[in-house]
Amino acid sequence: MARRCFVAHPRVSRVTLATLPTPLEPGGKLQSGANLWVKRDDLTGLGVGGNKARKLEFLCAEAIDNDATCLVTVGAAQSNHCRMTAAAGARLNLPTHLVLSGEKPKNLEGNQMLSAMFGAHLHHTGLAASDWSNLELARAELTEKLIRDGQRPHSIPIGGSTAVGAIGYAVAFDEIISQCSLQNFVADAIVFTTSSGGTHAGLVAGLIRARANDPQKVLPKVIGIGVAKGVALNTNRVVELANETLTLLGERANATIADVIIDASYMGADYAIPTQAAADATTWAAHRGAWVLDPVYSAKGFSGLLGLDANGDFGVDSNIIFIHTGGLPSLFVMH
Ligand SMILES: Cc1ncc(COP(=O)(O)O)c(C=O)c1O
Repeated sequence: MARRCFVAHPRVSRVTLATLPTPLEPGGKLQSGANLWVKRDDLTGLGVGGNKARKLEFLCAEAIDNDATCLVTVGAAQSNHCRMTAAAGARLNLPTHLVLSGEKPKNLEGNQMLSAMFGAHLHHTGLAASDWSNLELARAELTEKLIRDGQRPHSIPIGGSTAVGAIGYAVAFDEIISQCSLQNFVADAIVFTTSSGGTHAGLVAGLIRARANDPQKVLPKVIGIGVAKGVALNTNRVVELANETLTLLGERANATIADVIIDASYMGADYAIPTQAAADATTWAAHRGAWVLDPVYSAKGFSGLLGLDANGDFGVDSNIIFIHTGGLPSLFVMH
């Protein structure tokens, strides 16, 4: 496919990778009487979809602007971000290297199977999925090696969570707000799964920009349900990233710590360790709307939404949006 960058903002390039806008579906009443809405970012289209398509539109444009000859990124063995980067690489004709946790399995499954199908080079490190700092070191080492070999790699950190990547979710915030007005309601909260923080930072940047443009407008709270210790389970880092994103967009307004809500009480023991609440949320979502959640990300995020509802955090007839961020392939992995 031809590589085409178009300008999303005077200082920011973008390539088309996602099918947008994604649907915003009504989900009926929650236990409290609040209205549920589901933003279907599992349907972004790129390489079976998910939230990373939005970030990759900006990250890959940056790669093309820098004349990159290949992409490098890093993640857990079943990283959705790695699979979607592989899909972007295939679409843009950029060879893609993935640094993964764990040993090389006998048979590739789920996201790894798809990444290989998209033609990516898989580098199994043997590291634990929670060993984020050594995984990042392994990415840096591979990037250096590719440079020594004469390549110009565009090396993307875990989750694609740079300010450039986060622009994808600042733009998504606007998309959500305009869909709400088209469907004649005002959103009270946007709830989603957060891990490396880029989705969260982008949404917060979108919120701050919208507030600066119209201080009278009623805007939703942005609530991240944390699912990984030690990545960006850190409000300061999300504030910093949101502010870098706002700067890239030419905005003067700033996010503060009060704008960033991370609820880590639905994570369970740690990243990718199953919880009963997530299993129950998966059944609830499948029965209610045939929404297919995954145990690592979206099910824990949705269990957070149901938990907040049960705790009385949402008012009767309020409108609560769950961003379904994807994660389908890991559902088919044997454990
Ligand atoms: C399905 C899914 N949901 C949510 C997230 C969290 O997004 P972020 O890393 O931007 O916090 C990820 C990250 O990999 C993901 O794969």
